[in-house]
Amino acid sequence: MKLSVIGLGHVGLVTAAAFAQWGHEVMAFDIDASRREHLRRGKVPFYEPGLQDLFDEAVAGGRLTVVDDLGGTLAGTDVAFVCVGTPPLPGGGPDLSYVEQVGSAVAEHATGDLVLVEKSTVPANTGRRLEQVIAREQRRVGSSHRIYVASNPEFLREGNAVEDTLNPDRIVYGTSSVHARDALREVYRVLVDEHDCPVVETEVATAELIKHASNAFLATRISFMNAVAQICDRVGADVEVIARGMGLDDRIGPAFLRAGIGYGGSCFPKDVDAFAHLAREVGYEFDLLESVRAINSGQRDLVLRKLEGELWHLAGKSIAILGAAFKPGTDDLRESPAIYLAEQLLEQRAKVRIYDPVALNAVAKVLPDAERFDDPLEACSGAHAVVVATEWSEIRNLRVEDLREHLAHPIIVDGRNVFDPDTFIEAGFRYHSIGRRSVSPI
Ligand code: UGA
Repeated sequence: MKLSVIGLGHVGLVTAAAFAQWGHEVMAFDIDASRREHLRRGKVPFYEPGLQDLFDEAVAGGRLTVVDDLGGTLAGTDVAFVCVGTPPLPGGGPDLSYVEQVGSAVAEHATGDLVLVEKSTVPANTGRRLEQVIAREQRRVGSSHRIYVASNPEFLREGNAVEDTLNPDRIVYGTSSVHARDALREVYRVLVDEHDCPVVETEVATAELIKHASNAFLATRISFMNAVAQICDRVGADVEVIARGMGLDDRIGPAFLRAGIGYGGSCFPKDVDAFAHLAREVGYEFDLLESVRAINSGQRDLVLRKLEGELWHLAGKSIAILGAAFKPGTDDLRESPAIYLAEQLLEQRAKVRIYDPVALNAVAKVLPDAERFDDPLEACSGAHAVVVATEWSEIRNLRVEDLREHLAHPIIVDGRNVFDPDTFIEAGFRYHSIGRRSVSPI
């Protein structure tokens, strides 16, 4: 099939390359000229394991072309996927203006009938808004092509995006048009025929809600465990063992029960807010989601409180932060707990020494006042305390003796519960983690 992908971020680029892998002919467009240029020079513009190879293969096979104008991208296309950003607005809702712009551009440039698919995460009822925009724009330009709107949310995780896209748990799409449904069946035929991937076919608003409900539910699990961790800290229980004990129940399952310094990234924080915002707009106060968000913010501040508990005033103190990305496997710093922590520390006039295996270039842009290190032990050198903010294997594999040797004081806040408390306590550390037995040597 002839497909187009509009917006080449984490979702769009991986999707475009996967479509090409499944044998479709893909035209891809991003509004950012430097990103297009980067891609045309053969370079994937962000860190995502496996994506460079998938992209190279798609381009070499002649099945993926990065195009300079939206009109060219849409020429002769059967299905166009909207993968543009939906960043948060101050009021909690997402900014849908880029989605709207694509809707009107598609109405203007379509060269024939096509299916327009929302893949960006959008609130329920965006599909209806898109239809309205398209009808208005078509009247203006005098176009009579049929544009069928569908929703096909994406469930890929950053850092795992290629694997998640090539082997998804499920495909969800919603549309009220038989033509669009058949087209989407064809797009994903390979996954169904060769991988037996389950499919949920529904209408647009339900598909849109599946995405928001899924992300909000996963965020709720994390916040739930972070709240349990708070209780653990107070009664001397161990949240990791509790997560294991809970996760062995088939009805609960083990995933997304890890307590820590809170979830980050471009999705959970934004989607929890957007879902609560949508609920409010339609007359329902989704208080649970407000709590999910409040618990998450509390976890970030907890680390600061633990540091203050150890070091009293933070001004002039030197703090090493191990990990900057919001999770391992990505150089994405959006809503990263590490960045929040660094900003708070800098505001209190502490010195921040930050390590990350892949995100240091991005760190330079958002934290110009932090010192950056490509070696975790160097980052710890002479520091008053160290915080583990991202569970990269480079950090997990650090040896307690090496940390002890480099730090000025043996104080650690393990915000991802990656180390064994006993090992650190035996080595003379003041060891703090989240919801586990902590501390010791005075
Ligand atoms: C998330 C969803 O998992 C994807 O299914 C979805 O497609 C994506 O959002 C999106 O909407 O685009 P992502 O944000 O890439 O994916 O990352 P996750 O692996 O879900 O992690 C999110 C955050 O939760 C990270 O900061 C991670 O450290 C944290 N987390 C995760 C925990 O604190 N505890 C856990 O047990 C799991």
